[in-house]
Amino acid sequence: MVTVQPDYDFEGATFDLSDPGDREIVNFILSQALFGEATGVYCGQSLYAARSLEAARFYVRQARQELNHLELFADVFRILEMKPLPAHWVIKTMSSHNHYYPLKVLMEHAIGEGLVLDIFKDVLLQTLPEDHPGVPEIKKKLNVVCREELEHVEWGEKEVRWVLEQDPSLATPFYGLLEWQLWLAPLILRRYEGQAEGHPVLSHLPRFVEHVNNRVWEQGRRLGFVPEERPGFFGRAWAMLTGGLLFVRSQFTSGRSTLDKTYLSELGFE
Ligand SMILES: [Fe+2]
Ligand SMILES: [Fe+2]
Repeated sequence: MVTVQPDYDFEGATFDLSDPGDREIVNFILSQALFGEATGVYCGQSLYAARSLEAARFYVRQARQELNHLELFADVFRILEMKPLPAHWVIKTMSSHNHYYPLKVLMEHAIGEGLVLDIFKDVLLQTLPEDHPGVPEIKKKLNVVCREELEHVEWGEKEVRWVLEQDPSLATPFYGLLEWQLWLAPLILRRYEGQAEGHPVLSHLPRFVEHVNNRVWEQGRRLGFVPEERPGFFGRAWAMLTGGLLFVRSQFTSGRSTLDKTYLSELGFE
């Protein structure tokens, strides 16, 4: 089995699963993951508006994988004898389904699942301690999840490129939304800021957040919607305003079916 390699090095730091404080933190992380996987399942909704047979195939496959991830994470809770907590409001906001295809592929797949992968691959795979009897099995499961999430991000990136080719004017609001997501995501960690000093894993948080920000920034640049130089205050504010407006507009968009109009050409009859 190919092991997914982390990008950020926690330098061997692990949580202590016999310590109630550490168990609370691990439970918090796993609870966000569980909620994210539950919302991942409703990518099945995207089937209705799938723009091609390839997209339809992808969403069928993804829905099955996310359903599987949901159950895998439930197993992880059982193995660690933990009980899931409700999701943080940031996770609820970031994982809300978007019917507007350009934002769906950008925010859910390319950026959103990219961030999910950072947590699974970099945090969970490295910081769960091997001395707990259940952890080797958990890591095996997480490896499977990570490889599939990697595919979901790749799909998102491919579709973002296509969307930008169709409408290059989306680059500025896309960049603004990336700024929003980079501002929003670290708010989840705020509750642990006071505990960071001296804690083997939490003391990495500032550097880890910086690493993730840089990675997402590079990703946006690679996809062609993040400018080479970070704009000044007004440039950023403008992009965030256009991104915010596009997001608000997307909340009132309902997905339109396409396969009933394109199935003949998609199947090669036209
Ligand atoms: Fe997933
Ligand atoms: Fe996923």
